[in-house]
Amino acid sequence: MNDDNLEFPAETFSAVKWNAGMLTLLDQRKLPREINYLDYDSALAVAAAIKDMVVRGAPAIGIAAAYAVVLAARTAWQEAEESWREKIEADIETLAAARPTAVNLHWAIAEMKKVFDSIEGDPEPVLLETAICIHEEDIAANHEMGRLGAELIVANSQVITHCNAGALATGGYGTALGVIRTAFKNGSIKNVFSSETRPWFQGARLTSWELQQDQIPVNLVIDSAIASVMENNKIAWLIVGSDRIAANGDVANKIGTYSHAVSAYYHGVKVMVVAPSSTVDMDIESGVDIPIENRGTEEVTDFKSTRIAPNDIEAINPAFDITPAKLVDVIVTEKGIVHNPDTEKMLALFG
Ligand code: MRU
Repeated sequence: MNDDNLEFPAETFSAVKWNAGMLTLLDQRKLPREINYLDYDSALAVAAAIKDMVVRGAPAIGIAAAYAVVLAARTAWQEAEESWREKIEADIETLAAARPTAVNLHWAIAEMKKVFDSIEGDPEPVLLETAICIHEEDIAANHEMGRLGAELIVANSQVITHCNAGALATGGYGTALGVIRTAFKNGSIKNVFSSETRPWFQGARLTSWELQQDQIPVNLVIDSAIASVMENNKIAWLIVGSDRIAANGDVANKIGTYSHAVSAYYHGVKVMVVAPSSTVDMDIESGVDIPIENRGTEEVTDFKSTRIAPNDIEAINPAFDITPAKLVDVIVTEKGIVHNPDTEKMLALFG
């Protein structure tokens, strides 16, 4: 389909927005059944919202944290004008610890802290301007990545995506879904397979919903069907986002990405990782050093708060995995594309 007038409803909602002096988050835990916005006026409440998955997706978490720093500074300034920089530190530490894998959280907080020294007087206006800038730059990066990634996809392709790397996971438009949106608009993608993404069902609840709203044909499949989907359909690309990319090109992303990439290798399906440069962590040499979040085991043993596993079973619940660089064909960022990533090529673009 090639229609320049095609509307993209994903542009009409925002997972994260600054509204009347407060941070508003679209509660992603209940989507798509309930569309509910929650307002936040404290950094600690935002940290809890990040931990509890009200807002999720690496870039969206970073943007929410940037706005949370504004809220923390406002409170600290109201309590003690001379020492707001010291007072804010405890809140920032709690924010930074909310989720460990997505480096965008730490990156955004560091960007906010960079302007602390230059602030005179009330910190809120300058910090708000910085947070808005982080938010707007993320949206612009997504559109640029959409353009770059879509150029790699030939006409009438079928692709697979995992988890949700869409408008909901970012400032807007999406990373992996940004590429898919642009490629669909260009007529390069005719169908998407979205894997459900246990245990939070980001693929089933969020990606399928976003694509459906944009009238992009999508088939929802269970995670373990992916090898079979690759065997029985002509799939051009596996397109995913990332929570952190190490200096050698190893990619941390939602649990299941690694097994999808192994299946892709076996079936000759190419792997595209789409992420803004704020997801690249050149301080981490390889994927083994990326901290992987382990979440509560009730996410595995229970379904909708009902126990489905035996009472005394010991489950484990890693929320992310590492796809080695050698299984990745391209990393698409707003700064450019890295083909067959390794340390040398990553350094050339991000060094
Ligand atoms: O646990 P989540 O939902 O925050 O995990 C999100 C992912 O793994 C996404 O694929 C990743 O953050 C990229 S989002 C543009």
